[in-house]
Amino acid sequence: TVTLLFTDIEGSTRLLHAVGDEYARVLSEHRRILRDAFERHGGREVDTQGDSFFVAFADADAATRAAADAQQALASEPWPEGVAVRVRMGLHTGNPILADDHYVGMDVHRGARIAAAAHGGQVLVSEQTRAAVAEGTEFSTSLRALGAHRLKDLPEPEPLFQLIVHGLPSSFPPPRAYEEAPAAAGLPDYSQPPADVPCPYKGLIAFEPHDSEIFFGREALVEDLVARVEQASFLAVVGPSGSGKSSLVRAGLVPQLGRRGAPSVIVSPGEHPLRELALGVYDILDQSPDALRERLAADPRALATEFGHAGLVVVVDQFEEVFTLCRDEDERAAFISALLAAAEEGDARVIITLRADFYGHCARHRELAAMLEEHQALIAPMSEEELRRTIEGPAQEAGLVLEPGLVEGILRDIVGQPGALPLLSHSLLETWKRRSGRMLTLIGYLHAGGVHGAIAKTAETVFNDRLTAQQQALARNAFLRLTELGEGTEDTRRRANVGELVPRRGQEDEVDEVLHILAEARLVTLHEDTVEVAHEALIRNWPTLRAWLDEDREGRLVHRRLTEATQEWQALGRDPGALYRGARLAGASDWAELNDAELNELEREFLAASRSAEVGELEATRRRNRRLRTVVVALAVILAAALVAGALAVVQRQNAREAATAAVAQRLGAQALVQKDLDRSLLLAREGVELDDSLVTRGNLLAALVRTPAAVGVVRPLPGRL
Ligand SMILES: Nc1ncnc2c1ncn2[C@@H]1O[C@H](COP(=O)(O)OP(=O)(O)OP(=O)(O)O)[C@@H](O)[C@H]1O
Ligand SMILES: [Mg+2]
Repeated sequence: TVTLLFTDIEGSTRLLHAVGDEYARVLSEHRRILRDAFERHGGREVDTQGDSFFVAFADADAATRAAADAQQALASEPWPEGVAVRVRMGLHTGNPILADDHYVGMDVHRGARIAAAAHGGQVLVSEQTRAAVAEGTEFSTSLRALGAHRLKDLPEPEPLFQLIVHGLPSSFPPPRAYEEAPAAAGLPDYSQPPADVPCPYKGLIAFEPHDSEIFFGREALVEDLVARVEQASFLAVVGPSGSGKSSLVRAGLVPQLGRRGAPSVIVSPGEHPLRELALGVYDILDQSPDALRERLAADPRALATEFGHAGLVVVVDQFEEVFTLCRDEDERAAFISALLAAAEEGDARVIITLRADFYGHCARHRELAAMLEEHQALIAPMSEEELRRTIEGPAQEAGLVLEPGLVEGILRDIVGQPGALPLLSHSLLETWKRRSGRMLTLIGYLHAGGVHGAIAKTAETVFNDRLTAQQQALARNAFLRLTELGEGTEDTRRRANVGELVPRRGQEDEVDEVLHILAEARLVTLHEDTVEVAHEALIRNWPTLRAWLDEDREGRLVHRRLTEATQEWQALGRDPGALYRGARLAGASDWAELNDAELNELEREFLAASRSAEVGELEATRRRNRRLRTVVVALAVILAAALVAGALAVVQRQNAREAATAAVAQRLGAQALVQKDLDRSLLLAREGVELDDSLVTRGNLLAALVRTPAAVGVVRPLPGRL
């Protein structure tokens, strides 16, 4: 080991001012004194710069003596009038790396930091040097423990000891914590431990009413909307996903209306909007939630006046869930009617937030569309000034300091980007985690991955570092299920029942644990029994999830449809009519065979039920077919017999007809021979040949001709014959 000694004149700038031209002489006198002491104890000078020395000793004991001697010599030197040359020293023993006659490495760093923590005239010693100083020598008793102190750039607090030098003052202020260390080159000190300041940034989640103190950037809009709500009883806050609608209404409008005496209830429609509405208002209306829900279902307009009497502001956040999550057409219609009636007839005020991409869906409900058209506020992206306030306002509220240039740096990254707000919010949270003291720093911001890398980075870190391999598989499965696959549109988040994320019975607790880790990192939000990705920025910006999604997109779609079909089947009390069959079953089975780990128990049951239903149907069909086949064979035999019989009949009839003709012809020939009238005899004989050209008829004709030689010339020669 080597013991390193670092020295430095305290307040050298002040000293320069005090002695002016004499400074050079003072400096060189100080060097001479120190070199004397170092040489006497075998020290080797490694580096000297301006007013500081770096000396290496083979022996810790010798190094300690050299430091003590040097301090004594400095104290007894007759410096010019009114001048005190006070030198701070630090000793550390370790194994620095020797490179080109120079020591480098962590131990060098540590020695320098220890010296920097000393006051002028003080010698500070590291734990390692104290241990190396031989027991029993005079120095081991003259080291005073000062406790552990956090030093600049060192990860752990450093235990420090002070060398008590005989005859010299030994009372010094506590070692200089590096807060007091002057900033090098004007850069802030990045390595202070984070000060205990609450986080004023929300990360990926929406602001809530109790966050109104840290909600900034929407002041003008909130004023404007409060005025509108006071004039009209319906307001739709419309904007793209992540534009800050929920936060605006929850942390802006609701508290502001509350200050004016209007109580609010906030509900999200979910799968059963009527139930959610009843759960939201039952308290205020002093009724049981079930009875309320029933009344609403029976007559959606029934409660309109009651809402109004309570002076209620009903906020329906994420109104689009009425279309995405609620599958029951009747319940959807009843819910919409109830809201509209409350606003129109009952004098309650209704505020909904609606994602712009679901605007079109509302057109299907005429009255809602009419309401929307008249009473909507479109949320525009924040201006640069407003964005700046969302960074600076909360910081000031919490007592955080922003490093100069940080706000500008962040704004450059997000201004003009469509999904900027959640990314900004998330990276501010990550920058806060990396704060130095009370300061949010550029370095911290960059370490967090900037605006766009922040979420991906958190997700990646949590995924890789906080989860075991088995938990990773569960998390992958969860994230895939928490993504709604866009078909020609962007992928969006999808709320799922926690149960859906459990691949096999018995894994419920494991899944819960994974979800809690993810929720703690604000990657997902847990509701009573559902879970969703905290924001879609995660789905768009986390490359690992993107890769999973794109790996086998077709397969993902098959799986998603299977999930939905399974849930429908379950909801219908496992109605066999809702099972898969035919090509769809074949497609899903093929996929499931290769990806069994991605299914959950219910989906497996659904597939099994579908398969056995199909096998049953096939069996029945086969039996039916077998019966049919017998009938068909019999019919075929009969048909063949009929055909054969028919053909025979035709042939026979033909033969009969030919025989009859021949007989007539022969009869004609015979008559010709007995005919007295020659002409008639010839005509008859010819007719006979015409009817049936045979040897007999020809013979008759010849015989007729022989009776009239003059007529021979009229006989037509028969082609090919005599
Ligand atoms: N005024 C604000 N200052 C800082 N961050 C904000 C502000 N408003 C919203 N955010 C942040 O922006 C993100 C999106 O906000 P929010 O959930 O309110 O948007 P949204 O429009 O309701 O989204 P969605 O369409 O998904 O419902 C969150 O991370 C939230 O913390
Ligand atoms: Mg929202």
